[in-house]
Amino acid sequence: MPTPLISPSILSADFARLGEDVRAIDAAGADWIHIDVMDGHFVPNITIGPAVVKALRPHSAKPFDVHLMIAPVDPFLEAFAEAGADIITVHPEAGPHIHRTLQTIKALGKKAGVVINPGTPVEVLDNVMDLVDLVLVMSVNPGFGGQSFIASQLAKITRIRAMIEQTGRPIHLEVDGGVNPATAKLCLAAGADVLVAGSAAFSGGAARYAANIAALKGEA
Ligand code: DX5
Ligand code: ZN
Repeated sequence: MPTPLISPSILSADFARLGEDVRAIDAAGADWIHIDVMDGHFVPNITIGPAVVKALRPHSAKPFDVHLMIAPVDPFLEAFAEAGADIITVHPEAGPHIHRTLQTIKALGKKAGVVINPGTPVEVLDNVMDLVDLVLVMSVNPGFGGQSFIASQLAKITRIRAMIEQTGRPIHLEVDGGVNPATAKLCLAAGADVLVAGSAAFSGGAARYAANIAALKGEA
């Protein structure tokens, strides 16, 4: 099985020393940095905004994988692009026109992703595959770190992998929620190539980060 890219979610980092923690997880082998943006409205939790993304930008040269869980999402795309996002992923439920939202992200010069919640059918991708660089499958309901992996999403990963193959384009397939070394293997077998990990990446403190990432890559 190919080695996955690991995108540690800084939701599980120490918010009082976020810059340092981003440097530490970068040095430990993170491929991307996953940034969970929540508004207390689209999801029942509030996290960080564009100012924090901008403040973190000098702390890592790795791609910033910005997962927007905010509604409406459209008015904030430019702010996150300017703050330093490289990949911007959006939920189709977060605005009235997912196609237009993806067009806007592309026009801002960023990679565009669509997030599929556990209850969202894959058909939402049918008419936007030409615009996406990444599909993010949620294996928990969005809002919090540390939840249990919802195994019914594995079949969805397999279906989306087939859809991606049909396009012939290099679209990433990322999984987010409850990913640990055991569930990582299941995700990869189902066709994922990028894994988000919050708790599993940051547990044990900075001394453990490299071993945590290696374990997620199946190298430990
Ligand atoms: C949940 C977030 C996830 C979360 C993952 O809404 O999108 O990125 O931080 O955390 P773990 O890996 O702990 O499930
Ligand atoms: Zn996320």
